[in-house]
Amino acid sequence: LENGVARTPPMGWNSWNTFGCNINESLIRQMADAIVNSGLRDLGYQYVVVDDCWFNPNRDSSGNIQGDPSRFPSGMKALGDYLHNKGLKFGIYQVPVDKTCAQYFNSYPGATGSQGHEAQDARQFAAWGVDYLKYDWCSPNGTINDQVATFAKMRDALKATGRPIVYSINPNSIHSKTGPQRNWGDVANMWRTTEDITNKWDTGQTNGYPMGIQNIVNVTVPLASYAGPGHFNDPDMMEIGRGGMNDTEMRSHFALWAMMASPLIAGNDIRSMDSATQTILKNKNLIAINQDSLGLQATQVSNDGTRRVLAKKLANGDVAVALFNQGGSTTTVSTTTSAIGKSGGTVTLTDAWTNATSTTSGTISASVPAHGTVVYRVSSPGSSPSASPSASPSVSPSVS
Ligand code: DGJ
Repeated sequence: LENGVARTPPMGWNSWNTFGCNINESLIRQMADAIVNSGLRDLGYQYVVVDDCWFNPNRDSSGNIQGDPSRFPSGMKALGDYLHNKGLKFGIYQVPVDKTCAQYFNSYPGATGSQGHEAQDARQFAAWGVDYLKYDWCSPNGTINDQVATFAKMRDALKATGRPIVYSINPNSIHSKTGPQRNWGDVANMWRTTEDITNKWDTGQTNGYPMGIQNIVNVTVPLASYAGPGHFNDPDMMEIGRGGMNDTEMRSHFALWAMMASPLIAGNDIRSMDSATQTILKNKNLIAINQDSLGLQATQVSNDGTRRVLAKKLANGDVAVALFNQGGSTTTVSTTTSAIGKSGGTVTLTDAWTNATSTTSGTISASVPAHGTVVYRVSSPGSSPSASPSASPSVSPSVS
């Protein structure tokens, strides 16, 4: 979507994976403080997204949506101001249908979806200083054709507010009710490619609930041609630092999200990250690959079922290559300079995890542990330095 925002994949944090409906303003403020104090903000993690269950189950007498006064007593505008004063951006959740997912499935009271209130809600969000809307289709009713028109309605309502707002849609929960994968780039800045993620490597699902990391990669890699500046495939919020996976798998998760030009939305409790989690979420080489200004998603070079190779072209002429071992034991994963479009001489490989460098004029390979991913940044001699993330945020506080 060409609305001036999300020129590179949005980065930030979302409340749902760890907290579900158990959210309130002090939790969100603590998380914002932790995002700043941990250094994540300065690495690009800007959007703080308050997911389902923030709202009063009743609209006011004029039909305006309101924050839940018991859990957000200062109001949603105050929360936005707090985030903006910290140099962060404010994300909020709503649905295009009558009820939010939690209202359908988690006994959250009310029916406060935007259906019939699109323009009013968009104006309300803009007035609160919202910078990012997650618009989540959870209705057991509906068809793919309804989805396109319905998601477009909020796109237009957001545009009419004049405020630049990242538009993040989920056409893929209750997947059996939706149609085939669609290129949503004309409608949204980012769109979920699968059912909900969980903190497991592999759940055996093709696209059913819940999805493991390997399962989401299988669905999202073939959608590479849909991605570009302003419009990205969204393989869901990250599960790094939430248990359920070993360190190799969590590193692989981050490396593959970086390669897929996926939004990097952390889903863990930032207040209590262990050092392994911090090392992963703060990997500057992978963030730079993810935030590269070309905005391209890695394309698949090869996949024999066990060894999968992805390559992502970068703005300075470098190519990032991922050597991914989908199997259950250590194996060598290989490709070549010509297969990734860097033939014709010696190139330097910089390992994104270790910063170790080596050179090759042909084979690119690594011994990769089970479920691991080695990423090299491949550069020709004399290529300009592998720049820091193009989307380095400005950290000066900006109020609404
Ligand atoms: C379904 C979405 O896929 C999740 O990310 C989350 O937003 C929940 N709905 C909230 O109910």
